[in-house]
Amino acid sequence: MAKLVINNESKKSVINPEIYGHFSEHLGRCIYEGLYVGENSDIPNVNGMRKDVVDALKEMKIPVLRWPGGCFADEYHWMDGIGPKEKRKKMINTHWGGVVEDNSFGTHEFFELCRQLGCKTYVNANLGSGTVREMSEWIEYITFNGVSPMADLRKENGHEEPWVVDYVGVGNENWGCGGNMRPSHYADEYRRYQTYVRNYAGNQPIKKICCGPNVDDYAWTRGVLETCFDHTEPRAHGLMDGLSLHYYTLPETEDDWNYKGSATKFTEEVFYQTLKRGYFMEELVTKHGNIMNEFDPDKKIGLMVDEWGIWTDVEPGTNPGFLYQQSTMRDALVAGMSLNIFNKHSDRVKMANIAQLINVLQSVMLTDGSNMIKTPTYYVFSMYSIHQGASLLSSELLNAGTVGKGKNELPKILESASEGEDGIINITLTNNSLESSEDVEIVLTKDPASYDVCEAKVLKGAMDAHNTFEAPENVKAEKFEGFAKSGESLKVTMPKCSVVSIRLKK
Ligand code: AHR
Repeated sequence: MAKLVINNESKKSVINPEIYGHFSEHLGRCIYEGLYVGENSDIPNVNGMRKDVVDALKEMKIPVLRWPGGCFADEYHWMDGIGPKEKRKKMINTHWGGVVEDNSFGTHEFFELCRQLGCKTYVNANLGSGTVREMSEWIEYITFNGVSPMADLRKENGHEEPWVVDYVGVGNENWGCGGNMRPSHYADEYRRYQTYVRNYAGNQPIKKICCGPNVDDYAWTRGVLETCFDHTEPRAHGLMDGLSLHYYTLPETEDDWNYKGSATKFTEEVFYQTLKRGYFMEELVTKHGNIMNEFDPDKKIGLMVDEWGIWTDVEPGTNPGFLYQQSTMRDALVAGMSLNIFNKHSDRVKMANIAQLINVLQSVMLTDGSNMIKTPTYYVFSMYSIHQGASLLSSELLNAGTVGKGKNELPKILESASEGEDGIINITLTNNSLESSEDVEIVLTKDPASYDVCEAKVLKGAMDAHNTFEAPENVKAEKFEGFAKSGESLKVTMPKCSVVSIRLKK
């Protein structure tokens, strides 16, 4: 039997709630239809935001939302998205499906959405095709509380008070769609742009995120840090608070973006291959983290994994530029594994944003007209929300074994544990096996007999199980009863292909 030893004698890093963050781009039906339907829609909405979606996201405890892209961010000109809607500029969304973008969702709508969600705000500025002035005026428009051209414009457009922007990304994927830059060039541009991400008097400091690497481009990480990590600043990390990392799990062909494989129809071999590719996140976070340690041993800069998740072929018959894909138990396991990895690296990983929130890539929800369904990934985020703001506990799995064969071999179980301010111990586990259930003995190093299970949930199903508009609750989190506590021992039997959360209370 596998044994999970949890050291509850000392707490480690705090698990930043933003690790459970999300990403919304002007792409396909993410913003329009998914989040925003407009005030005049028949779909129930509050100030244009879908009520069903906002309610479900609040219930899932969404902590932060990144917007407006993605590749779209480096072509976005924020002034096109303010003022009377009928006067807003229309443009072609060249990156995503060549459709008309009418800019009816802009700055005011984004901050209204985040207000309704009660989440932090992450705005990604345009470095690739914008100007320093444009970006600096955007920050002024959003945050300045006084008399200034941009603050006055905001007021003219109906918003007297400034908003709070928690994070600003200075460019997106500037090694690719954000300008095809070399690290040295981007790094110089970053230094210049970030200067004008002003913190106006009385405002909370904005956290600045520098564009980090694509997957395993370690040269980019090093190159950018060499120029942008400033040891001479009073705050050694004065130029940046975070470095982004983007990594997508492509199920079938790693190097062919035209063929990634179906979201719902795949073999067991592809299932394990996908999980193995998802598990690559462990290596990426470790290796990029090691480079960051050389510059920033005190871990003041966060690694912000602000795009991650499974990227499959689109659903048959849908616009290839809209990236609309289904989400199965395979997605749930990749989500559960990744979140466990982020928790375990929470001394360095300070934010992660799964791509994307709704109707695009590995979404937590899908919509069809007025209907909305939650995906298995939604339930993983909901179950794992118990870790938000808790302190990591070190944990070690013994005798758990592996699944998958050859190059697809990976650990059978991935886990993480935390302790909240309330003293409750939170444990989340994935059983990556399609073959067998797994018994795990959970051992606390301190006072094991005095803890009892106070809440336990399970998400399980066949590897391709998913929800549809006809069967919306085919896969959902349920009460978990597969455990037995006696004295100091807690034995958990995890069903095959499952995600389990357990909470222990004194
Ligand atoms: O999430 C879809 C796209 O993937 C984003 O726009 C881009 O940043 C990444 O390449």
